Amino acid sequence: MSTSPWAVILGASSGTGAAIAQEIARARGFDVFGVHRGRYLEQAVQVEQDIARMGRRIVMHRADAGTPEGAAQGADAVLAQAGPRSVKLFVHSLASGSVGRLVSGQKDQLHPRQLERTFHAMAHSLVYWAQALMARDLLAPQALLLGLTNPLTESHLHNTAAITAAKAALEIYVRHLAMELGPMGHRVNLLKFGTVMTPAVRHVYSPEAQAHLERVHQHLNPVGRMCTVEEVARFVPVLLGEEARWFNGATIDFTGGMTLQLLDLLLNPRP
Ligand SMILES: NC(=O)c1ccc[n+]([C@@H]2O[C@H](COP(=O)([O-])OP(=O)(O)OC[C@H]3O[C@@H](n4cnc5c(N)ncnc54)[C@H](OP(=O)(O)O)[C@@H]3O)[C@@H](O)[C@H]2O)c1
Repeated sequence: MSTSPWAVILGASSGTGAAIAQEIARARGFDVFGVHRGRYLEQAVQVEQDIARMGRRIVMHRADAGTPEGAAQGADAVLAQAGPRSVKLFVHSLASGSVGRLVSGQKDQLHPRQLERTFHAMAHSLVYWAQALMARDLLAPQALLLGLTNPLTESHLHNTAAITAAKAALEIYVRHLAMELGPMGHRVNLLKFGTVMTPAVRHVYSPEAQAHLERVHQHLNPVGRMCTVEEVARFVPVLLGEEARWFNGATIDFTGGMTLQLLDLLLNPRP
């Protein structure tokens, strides 16, 4: 059985999770256990090939990671592949939420099932996985558990009530897990970053809407452009470093100042 540290990445076939999987293998020599349901098969194969080329082990587990059963079966597979006390990094990068309004009385009114699914995939699953990893003694000494979030909880974006509420729950789960796992030497943090172009974002928005998104972010972000998934991914090895050990239970602002001038843009619209 391999003695290299392992990273378990939920959502490793696309966007942020895929970029983190590749970066952690490249920068830290980690073996990678990724989970996805198979909607981005080409990208999943690309991630597998890239990591294998680096000489690291890569396992792509195809299953729903957003349920208690999925977490238990996934953790069993991690145990079989990696063995106990092997997981140094766990990243929760699942994006699977419903958009819609709460009381519109129209077709876009969120159904209780949509609320439930959004919370399972985007919030509760962090706890299911933490429980499943702990029950099998899978965490390596001084492991890092990382959730991902966006600045939505600080403002209002119509249609995103379910996703934003799930992100708020995720933040609270991160704090409680940090308190419970801290005495065992582990850390649990939440990395907050602004919009990055992922296949999912490209899939949802038309080319015109994407161009609009780019333009808005040129105004929003002080640096004058959008952040990239590679920039987010490059920060994760930093969080694993000794210098970052005091980040715990933290929501780490990696938004590059994206929300600083919202009021100014509203009061003084740019052409
Ligand atoms: N993109 C942004 O602008 C942005 C900004 C800030 C924070 N974030 C956060 O970053 C995280 C990832 O977002 P992203 O934009 O990178 O997403 P993405 O490109 O859509 O990737 C999501 C990944 O999760 C997998 N997935 C979704 N539901 C799953 C489930 N139930 N079980 C197993 N795998 C599942 C997807 O594959 P399958 O669909 O095949 O399962 C895919 O690999 C999310 O937490 C998101 O809120 C994103």
